[in-house]
Amino acid sequence: MVVVLFLQLANGVEPHLAGMGQKIFFDTGLSQPVGQSCASCHDPKQAFSDPRPVSPGAVQGREGNRNTPSLMYAALIPAMAVEDVYDENSELSYIIEGGLFLDGRSHDLLDQVKQPFFEKNEMNLSGEKELAARLRRASYAPELRKAFNGADWENDKMVAGLAYRSLVAFLREPLFRPFNARIDEFWAGKEDAITPAEKRGLAVFITKGECAKCHFVGTGVWPKPLLTDYGYDNLGAPSRGSKDPGLGELTKRENEMGQFRVPSLRNVALTAPYLHNGSIGTLKELMEFYNARNLEPERWGKTDYPETVNHEDMGDLKMTKEEIDDLVAFMFALTDQTLLKMKPDDVLPGVAEGVPSTESVKTFFESRRDRIDPAAER
Ligand code: HEC
Ligand code: HEC
Repeated sequence: MVVVLFLQLANGVEPHLAGMGQKIFFDTGLSQPVGQSCASCHDPKQAFSDPRPVSPGAVQGREGNRNTPSLMYAALIPAMAVEDVYDENSELSYIIEGGLFLDGRSHDLLDQVKQPFFEKNEMNLSGEKELAARLRRASYAPELRKAFNGADWENDKMVAGLAYRSLVAFLREPLFRPFNARIDEFWAGKEDAITPAEKRGLAVFITKGECAKCHFVGTGVWPKPLLTDYGYDNLGAPSRGSKDPGLGELTKRENEMGQFRVPSLRNVALTAPYLHNGSIGTLKELMEFYNARNLEPERWGKTDYPETVNHEDMGDLKMTKEEIDDLVAFMFALTDQTLLKMKPDDVLPGVAEGVPSTESVKTFFESRRDRIDPAAER
């Protein structure tokens, strides 16, 4: 299996980079103490997310405060951008979209993949010197070294930089963007690819549930629907300990406190628990939360930033029990079949037929210089 996968990767744009990225992704020798890799939190069998509300760090007793998101389609998340819009009073306003991490604090994937190595609550390395030293001792070091001419191999920054670029190349591989859920077959014209309940759920999703307002069913940054507009909102997630300001921490604006990026709903049936802090355990409960949050304050308890909670689009949707069940059913049609087909000893999901190579869709992957940084702009 591993051999087959490696050959598949080898067809990509920079095969050496993606293949090395894969090895780095699974290397448990790059944490302090050793034992944690990217895959420890981003489990391929859970669509590269973590079934625990928050993930423990490499150091015993430490943990983060956010639920580990899926890495499927993560390379398609656009860089953060501010768009001017006119609000309902014809006043000039703006919306923020995109950015990596749930609060958008990393401008692009290359910046993002550096962070976990040095987070105290994650892999806990002391810096690039330590990362480079460990990469030089890794079993795949000879392969990494081939990318350098002599002296550069001693340069910590360059060795670490190669690891980041390799991880980005890996996350851009076709296996992370199969678009082969049953909903894709339905949208491609195969009427019976989804069940009657799922069809009813799709209708609720677009109409009464108002879900598609934020979880777009149209296309945007990519030619296929990603079920997100990459905007930011505060749903009023139940608190789990200390307050998490989300986007507000980055922009320092009061009205953005407690906002988090709208996630893609692809593979959401595999990524429980839900919301940025993993505070809601099942899709059914989450739909009950959307439906009646305002009416059941005692059920959901306190939220971190009540003053910025969205009261326009959710909280009292008046959906029936049947509509909620149909919505949940619909979300099971969003799971990629490459993930469903994984066998117990598969390391990674397979590559779906017909997915374009990274090289041929290169223009869709943004580079850090494409967009402006809102924190600097306003
Ligand atoms: C200890 C658990 C843990 C480890 C180890 C870890 N991650 Fe993560 N990852 C997370 C969490 C939690 C978040 C969300 C954090 C946030 O928003 O502040 C995240 C976010 C991400 C994102 C952004 C996804 C998005 O939707 O914006 C990417 C990409 C990512 N991680 C890749 C990696 C890579 C590559 C590695 C290995 C170098 C790694 N992670 C190691 C827990 C982990
Ligand atoms: C106003 C925008 C908006 C609307 C409308 C909306 N959502 Fe969301 N959705 C979000 C945001 C923002 C988050 C992440 C919130 C957080 O992490 O605290 C989210 C999270 C989710 C999640 C959890 C995903 C995960 O991985 O944790 C699911 C499932 C979901 N929404 C489904 C729906 C459904 C179904 C509807 C319609 C009933 C809906 N949403 C309506 C913005 C919206």
